[in-house]
Amino acid sequence: MKKILNTTLAALAAMTISFNASASAGSVHLDSANTDISDQGSLQNGAKLFMNYCSGCHSISFMRYNRIGKDLNISDADVEKNLMFNGEKIGDNVVSSLSDAGAVNWFGTTPPDLSLVSRSKGVDWIYTYLHGFYKDESRIFGVNNHVLENASMPDVLWKLKQERSTEEFDQDVRDITNFLDYVGEPAKLVRVDLGYKVLGFLFILFVLSYLLKKEYWKDVKYGKWRAKD
Ligand code: HEC
Repeated sequence: MKKILNTTLAALAAMTISFNASASAGSVHLDSANTDISDQGSLQNGAKLFMNYCSGCHSISFMRYNRIGKDLNISDADVEKNLMFNGEKIGDNVVSSLSDAGAVNWFGTTPPDLSLVSRSKGVDWIYTYLHGFYKDESRIFGVNNHVLENASMPDVLWKLKQERSTEEFDQDVRDITNFLDYVGEPAKLVRVDLGYKVLGFLFILFVLSYLLKKEYWKDVKYGKWRAKD
């Protein structure tokens, strides 16, 4: 039995090591995004920035405007005012109005749908990518990216970066990343919240059960198992 356990553990360790190796192979160092999905203010700001700076090119077609409003506590009127710009309806999916042909013409590729990007690349990747633009005159938009070599996306946040202090800009990028994390799994809002509540409940139950156990065992002094005491 012990042998089986040891072999299983060794196999698991080997899998973890090879998984880590493949994840880091050829990739650059990623900064920690430090996002917090329970931070509503951050998600609201992220949604606003995303709609202003990203949704012109990128869809998040798995989301609808009213779902975002409901989850992030933004009223429908405010969603229409601050998050919708192209005469969409509140129940519509968030789809960019950029045509595929136009995109290929301008960028040489279509900007990918970002609904699940936080799941496929991870939040640290997105956070570092958005920080990773550097000047490179050989590229059409004059910028290249440390994280995604020869990316055909322009540095869309350059103006924001100039207007804001370093901390403010980092927070803005963190908020956009946080929003994309939420978009990747909207149920995470409920799941994480519920997780804390369940753990809290189990803790209280543990205390009560322990007190009850003490109460029950208080009078058991001469049971068979204590005979030698
Ligand atoms: C002007 C159009 C445009 C805008 C605006 C834009 N992007 Fe992009 N984005 C692109 C293109 C084109 C690509 C594909 C790059 C490539 O593969 O070379 C891309 C790629 C990406 C990727 C990589 C996705 C992947 O799976 O490889 C992420 C993440 C991303 N963009 C996030 C954003 C965010 C966040 C914003 C807003 C702050 C934004 N983009 C604004 C055009 C745009």
